This record gives sequence, C-alpha cells and structure tokens, in this order.
Amino acid sequence: MLAGTGAAYGALSSLGMAPAVADADLARKAFTPIRPGHLIDRVSGTAPKVVILGGGPAGLVSAYELQKGGYKVEILEARQRPGGRVFTARKGVTETDLDGETQTCEFSPGHFYNVGATRIPQHHITLDYCRELGVELLAFGNQNADSLVYYDGKTPLNNKAMTYRQAKADTYGYVSELLTKAVNQGALDKELSKDDKDALSEFLSSFGDLSASGKYEGSSRAGFVGASPGAGLDYGEQRKANAMSDVIQSGIGRNFSFEFGHDQAMMMFSPVGGMDRIYYKFAEAIGANHIRYGAEVTGFSTGDNSTKPWATYKRNGKEEKIEADYIICALPPHLVLKLKSDLPKENADALKSAKPFSSGKLGIEYSRRWWEEDERIYGGASNTDLAIEQIMYPYDHYNSDRGVVVAYYNNAENHIEFEKLKHADRLKKAVDLGKKIHGDVYGKDISSSFSGSWMKTRYSEGAWIDWEGGSHSRNDSPAYKKALEPVGRMYFAGDHLSNSIAWQQGALESGRAAVTAIHERVTA
Ligand code: FAD
Ligand code: PHE
Repeated sequence: MLAGTGAAYGALSSLGMAPAVADADLARKAFTPIRPGHLIDRVSGTAPKVVILGGGPAGLVSAYELQKGGYKVEILEARQRPGGRVFTARKGVTETDLDGETQTCEFSPGHFYNVGATRIPQHHITLDYCRELGVELLAFGNQNADSLVYYDGKTPLNNKAMTYRQAKADTYGYVSELLTKAVNQGALDKELSKDDKDALSEFLSSFGDLSASGKYEGSSRAGFVGASPGAGLDYGEQRKANAMSDVIQSGIGRNFSFEFGHDQAMMMFSPVGGMDRIYYKFAEAIGANHIRYGAEVTGFSTGDNSTKPWATYKRNGKEEKIEADYIICALPPHLVLKLKSDLPKENADALKSAKPFSSGKLGIEYSRRWWEEDERIYGGASNTDLAIEQIMYPYDHYNSDRGVVVAYYNNAENHIEFEKLKHADRLKKAVDLGKKIHGDVYGKDISSSFSGSWMKTRYSEGAWIDWEGGSHSRNDSPAYKKALEPVGRMYFAGDHLSNSIAWQQGALESGRAAVTAIHERVTA
C-alpha cells in the first residue's frame, strides 16, 4: 500500500500537481501500528500479556503501540517517574546519586532544564509522537550567531571570547580568499574546468564576502563594536577583521561543523515545559493502572515454547513475581547484566561489549537574564575547550526576569572532572570557568542550581553506551547483532539497539521493532 501511495504521489508530482518532496522528507520508517482488532480471531482466548521492564522511552513506546493492538501490558519501572534518561529538573525534583548526595531542585515555578535529552531534529519520530500525543513544541536554537567561542591557546584570539558571527566572518572570509587564490594561481587546473573555476570563484566571493579583488577585508557580518548602526548618520563601527594567521591558528572555527551532523541542525525542537512532558503523556495514554512505579526488577527468566517468561521485582520492600506471555526488556544493557537471570552466556557476553559513557549537565538559575540584557544572546550555546565544553542558554521565557543556564554539558574526561565532585564544588568549578567567557557577571545573581551526572545516577549508570567497534550511528559488530536477538519469549529494546544511540529516536525505533516482532510471532 505504501509503495502504491508513493508511486501515485510521484506521478502527481511529475504532472506538477503535488509538490516534489526530497527523499529525506519521505524517510520516515515504514512502521504500521498494529490495527485495532487485528488480534481478534488470530489468537484464541484472551489477548497476550506483555510485561515490559523499564519505563523509559523504549519501554513506554512498546506498551503504547502494543495497546493499540489490544495487548495487555504491564510496565515495571524502578523510578517514581516515567522517561528514564529523559529527565527534567524543575522545582521539587529530588535525586539522590549513587554516592548518597541528595539534591532538591529549587528553580522558580515554570523554569527548568533537561538533564538528559533536550533537542529533537526534524526527521526524528520523536516529533511524530509529540504530534500524536499533543505535546506542544518550542524551537530549540542549536547554533546562535551571537553566542560565543572561547579557546585556550597562544594566539591573540585565544583566551578571550568572540561571537560566533565574528568567528564565522573571519574564518569563511580567509578560507574563501585562500581558495580563490589557489584557483587563480592554477593550483586546481587539473581538477577544474574554466567554467568550474568561474562558478567556484563566484561562490567563494559571496561565501567569504570578498572584495572585488578576491580578498577578505573584513565584513559587517562580524558585527559592530558597541551598538549597531542607527538612525541618520550613525553608521556604527564595523568590527575589524582579525589577522589571517591568528584566525587560522586559533582554531575559532572548530565547532562550526557540529550543526552539520545528520541529527543536529541550527534549528531543533523541544517540548514546552521540558522533554519529560512526552513521557508523562505516554504514561497517561497507557494508563496509570498499567505502570508499576518503584518496581525494581531483580531477575527474570526468558521462557521458551513450553514455559512462560517471568520477572521478579522489589516494590515497597517486598519481592514479587510477574508472569507474561512475552517480556520486552527495555533496561540499559549494563544493568541487565546485574540481574539474576537465565540469559544464555553468549547473550550476556554480547552485552558486555556495551560500554557506558560519562556525561552530565549543571543548570544555574539566575535572577537576571544578563545573557540577554547585557550580551544580547537569545538561546543557543557558547562553545569552549575548557572542561565545561559549552554553556547553553534557555530557549524559553525569553526577556523574562530569570532563567536557567546550562553551565556545562560535557562528556568523557571533561565530565569525569565534574562527576567526581559534590554538587557545591561542581557549581564552583563551573562558575570559575564560565567567568573566563562571560566575566564576573557569571558569578552574580545565582538563585539556585542542580546538577546530574549520569554515571552516578541510579537506574542509568551511564549517559548512553558505545558498542565496542561501533558508533552511535552504525553498529554491526557480532556482539551488537547478538544483543538484537530475542531469547525464548523475551525481546530487547533501547537506544543501544539502534543506529541512533543517545537519541530518543533510537529508543522509540527499537521499541517499535520489538512490538512488530512480537505481533508477527503472535499472529503467524
Ligand atoms: P532509558 O531512558 O535509560 O530507560 C530505561 C528505563 O529503565 C529507565 O526508566 C530506568 O529507570 C529503568 N530501569 C533501570 N533499571 C531498572 C530496574 N532494575 N528495574 C526497573 N526499571 C529499571 N535524546 C534526544 O532525542 N535528544 C537529545 O538531545 C538527547 N540528549 C541526551 C543527553 C544526555 C546527557 C543523555 C543522558 C541522553 C540524551 N538523549 C537525547 C538520549 C535519550 O535520553 C535516550 O536515548 C533515551 O532515554 C533512551 O531510552 P531507553 O528507554 O532506551 O533507556
Ligand atoms: N543526542 C545527544 C545530544 O544531542 C548526545 C549526542 C551529542 C549525540 C552529540 C551525538 C552527538 O546532546
């Protein structure tokens, strides 16, 4: 049916009756939700019961899609909330880390930041579920011409902040000038025809804002010293170009390509009120009576053709057991290994090649939006090679009287420097480093703060995993392939079983894959 629709659409399109759509826009995965009623007549007796271990994105989407087909579902979730690594810090949120330190979030009502997932690109099915569940979205600016770059080094451009717009004007300007020179000097004559060279020179002239002689002599793109041009004879003072060698050696362009990543973009999206809104909506749609919060899974048996699978869990101090027709295990792989189970050795060995990764964030609420008032930075992030890696400005409550700045979102070694500290020391270190970029204002008007370190977070113990020999977007190692296989009557889901690791997309796609596999088996 889908192929037919596509063909008809293509025909209409070539007749000029429908807009032509780029392939990428059609790249939504072929996923057909189970039709309501499809189970009836295909299974005798009552609908099969699927127990789902974990109420993160993968577990919740599994339950939600199974329910569409009439399956009975029960979710066991250790935390008292849905969403797993989708975690929003707002007033009243309390978290005790694995070192025993408890933080309670004191942000002002309505203010928040996302300790885990925070941005969604336009091609992720995460946005489809937002539409389906009625989750309102805000634009999330991933890149901002007026945010800053700051890098350590020995050139005059290092160890001080510069706006992205200036860094871009100078970098694109000089790269364009140099390439124009190379073309004019015949250095590319083997590669390019005369027409190619003309077209390239034309492109470089606009890309770099070059003068008629092909030189970069500064550009209004870099902005103005002080105020922008005004009325009458106020032309403003255009920022001068930095020296070519300083621009090249200081590496001020090193973060430009971040937004080129397929899953990143200048313009992204995030739910109004925090990313966790999506999973509260999932939980509401599934029904509170199908989710057991505070239920920590302690073990499981995968079952086989003749025996049912089951799981044991601790809840309110009591150990309980639940039996199912099928189980979907949507727990992080390294935590599955800690459970008592009859998982065959080769499957358990495969999970050992999923290595948890350190990352975390710290949010500071300021009682004055100095980044907007003083520096005219509205959203986006500043980038640095200091251990904080970046400062992210709020994408909500613009122009209000307060807001939450993410003072670091860092990874691996840079994060470990913070992960090992208590919250108060993390804050102090983050503020000291942030002052290098923003000056003393960074230490003023702080009303409260909250940090999260995923390696030290109970029921996560890692921000995400990396498969040995794989990457976030391509996994084909034997261990990964083994981990994808169902065992007996148990199926597995989670972003780690996808080629979108560290994205809700991966968890949602993998939950759908588990649902499809179970439904195919049940109705075969
Ligand atoms: P999880 O979210 O980890 O869910 C697993 C669930 O299992 C949890 O609810 C947990 O409490 C539960 N559990 C664990 N142990 C037990 C047990 N013994 N018994 C019962 N329940 C248990 N994604 C994006 O789309 N955009 C982003 O910008 C983005 N940024 C991120 C930034 C950070 C710092 C992090 C950490 C993640 C980010 N992600 C982002 C990724 C996204 O959060 C994950 O891909 C997604 O949460 C994975 O879902 P999951 O269901 O596979 O796993
Ligand atoms: N998806 C996460 C984010 O956008 C983690 C990630 C960061 C994944 C960078 C890939 C690249 O922050």
